[in-house]
Amino acid sequence: MNATTADPRLDGRPVKRIVYSAEQIATRVRELGAEITARYPDGELLVLGLLKGSFIFLGDLVRQIARPLQVDFIVAASYGDSTTSSGHVRLVYDPETKLEGKHILLVEDIVDSGRTLNRLMDLLSLRQPKSLEICALLHKHVAEYLRYPVRLVGFDAPNEFLVGYGLDHAENFRHLPYIASLQ
Ligand code: IMP
Ligand code: MG
Repeated sequence: MNATTADPRLDGRPVKRIVYSAEQIATRVRELGAEITARYPDGELLVLGLLKGSFIFLGDLVRQIARPLQVDFIVAASYGDSTTSSGHVRLVYDPETKLEGKHILLVEDIVDSGRTLNRLMDLLSLRQPKSLEICALLHKHVAEYLRYPVRLVGFDAPNEFLVGYGLDHAENFRHLPYIASLQ
């Protein structure tokens, strides 16, 4: 697909190519919603979005889940060496919603090294949820460190730097309705 250099959202900055169009994303999100609906026939479901990257995906996803649910968010921050993912992750915002006894579905934008998810899953599993699973829109399949399975994946993504539909580069491009690879 050709990159839309004419897109005023890009301010002239080139994207290499559109990897997933808005239509492709919408189709896949509908499928994921149906899968999640079928996966949780009973029990309380809490959909937990990892900010900021998941905010658009989460908003679209929960509207495709045809069962009762609750929504909350977590904010994690990694600290230490900024050039490499250090693996030190702390919760900046801890969900106020009770996690105990509920099905928790952790929603992430993209799985890269998997370090963030490891740490969060370790922390969340201490809260005694009924179940705890990961749903990621994108999975680069390079996560050699990930100790937890990602049960629901939107797309097996290429190992390129992707932006749009919530994903940023230096906080830019989150609002693109499609996912593009940066030049
Ligand atoms: P991990 O801990 O290395 O798996 O990093 C996951 C986080 O890094 C994601 O939640 C994103 O915020 C960010 N990230 C990883 N790959 C990309 C990318 O291709 N584009 C934008 N952000 C990314
Ligand atoms: Mg980011």
